[in-house]
Amino acid sequence: MVIELKHPLIEHKLAILRDKNTGTKEFRELVKEIAMFLCYEAFKDAKLEKVTIETPMQEMKIGKLNEDKYAFVPILRAGMGMLDGVITVIPNAKIGHIGMYRDETTFEPVNYFFKVPKDIEKREVILLDPMLATGGSAIDAIDLLKSKGVKKIKFLCLIAAPEGIKRVEKVYPDVPIYCANIDKKLNNNKYIMPGLGDAGDRIFGTK
Ligand code: PRP
Ligand code: URA
Repeated sequence: MVIELKHPLIEHKLAILRDKNTGTKEFRELVKEIAMFLCYEAFKDAKLEKVTIETPMQEMKIGKLNEDKYAFVPILRAGMGMLDGVITVIPNAKIGHIGMYRDETTFEPVNYFFKVPKDIEKREVILLDPMLATGGSAIDAIDLLKSKGVKKIKFLCLIAAPEGIKRVEKVYPDVPIYCANIDKKLNNNKYIMPGLGDAGDRIFGTK
């Protein structure tokens, strides 16, 4: 299942984000902001626990999120750009990291780091990566999480290519994909078109 944020403000923010003249500072701020909106959408179906609180006026029953049931897992490097946004929304979630880079010739992901909370199997995992291109990195990251016993995973990205969506949906139909936009296609170098270029390089200013 793919959920695309369709909203004029998101399109507006993506217009600035995609622009090649947008600098590192603004790029980072926009990745953070859009990640917050994606997080809101991804928690639309969150189950709340009824608690009793006292307002200055009276006692009342109200739903609260048990933030301890969640973990955010960015795929390094670019996923780190989204972390600030999602922890602004859910500050008590635990955080894991998956290090992955795409080999420049084979376009296959290479895993170089994996560190997640030790009770990860009890948590719903929100996997973060701004770009879903071929889907290889997302699938390998989901493989790793599932091998640790994680049962519920949501994948949040800014831009998704139809090729990557198709592949993830085929291998993991149980993992919903939340994206800000579905783009047209991949080019011969497996970059998303029109896309925004290399997300990691633009967030960290490495090129
Ligand atoms: C980018 C992106 C994803 C991956 C997507 O990372 O952030 O992780 O490519 O491509 P895929 O869907 O074809 O696997 P990259 O390898 O450039 O590493 P970086 O985050 O360190 O820049
Ligand atoms: N990774 C990126 O950062 N951008 C793309 O378009 C594809 C993979």
